[in-house]
Amino acid sequence: MIELKTTDEIELMRHAGEITAAALSAVRSAAHVGVRLDELDAVAAGVIADAGAEALFLGYRPRTAPSPYPGVACISVNDAVVHGIPGRYSLEPGDLVSVDCGARYRGWSGDAAVSFIVGEHPDPRVTRSDQALIATTQAALDAGIAAARPGARLGDVAHAIGEVGRAAGYGLMEGHGGHGIGREMHEDPHVPNEGRPGRGLRLRPGLVLALEPMLITGGTDAYDEDPDGWTLRTADGTRAAHIEHTVAVTEHGPEVLTRLPAAQGAR
Ligand code: MF3
Ligand code: CO
Repeated sequence: MIELKTTDEIELMRHAGEITAAALSAVRSAAHVGVRLDELDAVAAGVIADAGAEALFLGYRPRTAPSPYPGVACISVNDAVVHGIPGRYSLEPGDLVSVDCGARYRGWSGDAAVSFIVGEHPDPRVTRSDQALIATTQAALDAGIAAARPGARLGDVAHAIGEVGRAAGYGLMEGHGGHGIGREMHEDPHVPNEGRPGRGLRLRPGLVLALEPMLITGGTDAYDEDPDGWTLRTADGTRAAHIEHTVAVTEHGPEVLTRLPAAQGAR
């Protein structure tokens, strides 16, 4: 069932989104070579707790998951695409890092992700390739956001996201996409990262969606799950990026609820 949010509810979701963005921004600032992923997770936990919010991901357990999610953030490095568990791995020069985080504030959720490069890779071609991948993932998200206008259809958003990724020759994580969000992190509708314009649900003010392109360098859509039951890695071993925003459809157009603070030079 698709639930439209009231103006007051969207106001609360703005707060949840702001806290989520602040956590991501702090993690990005702390992500230097030699820092462990569990240390970055603690940074996210601190920001969320200090804001009087709850970590949305911690303890999350979809029906198909083997165990409750053990982190505050998902941190996925290089060939890991999404749902990487922040463990004792220390960041290395040139790592491509995707951080996904969520907060719940007074019962309302925010969900967002950023991708960035840490330090310099010994092979400059790797860094150049990662920069292009991240830029295209951001462009795919921006196209999806721009398409999330009242009166448009879900297929327009899905198509806008997928077109950008496919045109650049990247792969798109078979079956994975975004979702409705509100009191729950994952609500209807599922938002595919590829679709046909003019098809599907008509977007109305009050619909809030998490849009999240995941692009794979090697062009495959295939992925594997780690033995931890969470981390998803590209099947071809190439690197992936994942960028996400929580976006409200308003009568004035799309509004991004998880915009990162400008001080960190983020978008
Ligand atoms: N943004 C991710 C998603 O929608 C959040 C996953 S949280 C986890 O899939 F707890 F399931 F890892
Ligand atoms: Co999400």
